[in-house]
Amino acid sequence: MQGELRSQQWFGKEGKDGFIYRAWMKNQGIPADEFKGKPVIGICNTWSELTPCNAHFRELAESVKKGILQAGGFPVEFPVMSTGETLMKPTAMLFRNLVSMDVEESIRANPLDGVVLLCGCDKTTPSLLMGACSVDIPTIIVSGGPMLTGKYRGKNIATSDVWRFTDELRAGSMTEEDLNVAEAGMCRSQGHCAVMGTASSMACMVEALGLSLPGNAAIPAVDSNRKVLAQLSGRRIVDMVHKNMKLSTLLTREAFENAIMANAAVGGSTNFVIHLMAIAGRIGVPLDIQDFDRLSANIPLLVNLQPSGKYFMEDMYYAGGLPAVMNALRAHLHKDTLTVNGRTVGENALLDATLNPDVISSMEKPFNELSGIVVLKGNLCESGAILKPSAASKSLLQHTGRAIVFENIEDYKLRIDDPALDVDETCVLVLKNVGPKGYPGMPEVGNMSLPKKLLEKGITDMIRISDGRMSGTGFGTVVLHVAPEAAAGGTLALVREGDMITLNVADRRLDVLLDAVELANRKAAWTPPSHDYKRGYVHLYINNVEEASQGADFGFLKGSSGSEVARDSH
Ligand code: FES
Repeated sequence: MQGELRSQQWFGKEGKDGFIYRAWMKNQGIPADEFKGKPVIGICNTWSELTPCNAHFRELAESVKKGILQAGGFPVEFPVMSTGETLMKPTAMLFRNLVSMDVEESIRANPLDGVVLLCGCDKTTPSLLMGACSVDIPTIIVSGGPMLTGKYRGKNIATSDVWRFTDELRAGSMTEEDLNVAEAGMCRSQGHCAVMGTASSMACMVEALGLSLPGNAAIPAVDSNRKVLAQLSGRRIVDMVHKNMKLSTLLTREAFENAIMANAAVGGSTNFVIHLMAIAGRIGVPLDIQDFDRLSANIPLLVNLQPSGKYFMEDMYYAGGLPAVMNALRAHLHKDTLTVNGRTVGENALLDATLNPDVISSMEKPFNELSGIVVLKGNLCESGAILKPSAASKSLLQHTGRAIVFENIEDYKLRIDDPALDVDETCVLVLKNVGPKGYPGMPEVGNMSLPKKLLEKGITDMIRISDGRMSGTGFGTVVLHVAPEAAAGGTLALVREGDMITLNVADRRLDVLLDAVELANRKAAWTPPSHDYKRGYVHLYINNVEEASQGADFGFLKGSSGSEVARDSH
């Protein structure tokens, strides 16, 4: 044991204070010896029936508790706000920073020596990790695991198909009845989205960062090995407390670089960029948006999963999971970085080779040479924008087209299917005011559906540009996270219908073909969009959220306040 346990500042106290700290806990039937120097481990639970991806977490927490008890720890489960992706309006992303504050303050304020973060649906992973980084006590992550693969009339389906189905319905090639059958077969079990969407990308991210036991990312939620991993994680966190293995000892610059390379190899979500930037900001590791492009440049797409390929998370598990990906990547990884199991990334990466090269391929014969995240610069995105090349159409990666401009999401919904809209497949769809401040909350609307009349012609992709995000399950030639965003007066705000826009992915450029004088004149005439958010959390959000290229965290939340509590009221 390295030093006195933090929890003993509560439970080890004499007199009135210690009496109060212990006596009220005993109403839960806890014997006195539990308070005598046992590591107190918090289980930070995002269980909620409004977050269906995390609805099995009370059961998962029981497995974690077993492990903690087996290792001589004292488990205490506590709830934090849960951000379910499917139900929350206007978008779960609006609340990521709020949850991170809940997590940070809940950990610091309570007698915890270590914490297990139960993460699953998209935002639950970054929000919990951001909050934990700002306290920096020993922490391990247990993900909830993906759902089993969905079924629709004999075919495998999952979340990426939602976009296809709704486009097919609009194009008339699918009926409402077909859609009902698909809806009934989509979500067959507990767990999060079964493709390499944001939830799976986040689960891969924490495993590649060394914050979960190997194998965490891909074990299906309903596989008994998920409970085994949860139990082993419970045992492990007790040992991490004894060794004082804090997040800051694991989250080095090299660990972040490993995660970026792993994300490229798995074809991870574009949301990975914004969340990893925010996590790095909390733990104090300098990371630049250009790092994502540079570090993933030599990493091909190894994993053949939707939305960039055809398989599902269940298949990735059977093929060896993330350990098999790390094994294939090991020549590129920083092998000396430490992970929660006490071994290095290099040692863990020796464990498992792929069991199915069609699902997890090799560096020598990759599934797709195109991967990673491309970071664009140009006069349309001076602070950057991103594109996922593996989800894009090769034919559109260098293209100049006429802009069709939507001022906001309401304008888009009103006009996109208007037969009078002057649009063809060579045009570029531009959507403004869906960024962090502009929406607010930066929703996943960047992969906007194509005009109905083009879908009916069989067109399946066009260049789309916005300051919003895209679901990790989305696909297409979609330029996202344009910064500065339109609502902050970025060039995006100045684009007008009919302007010509050039995307050149090879040169990493995104430009509107206007000269500096014209842009300056338009800027002088620009006024920010008005809004009615005068109070409450959204007011706080709009006034403090940073650009997407910096992680869209609040400026005042960057860094750590540590685990010390300055004053004691008892
Ligand atoms: Fe929760 Fe996709 S909706 S992970």
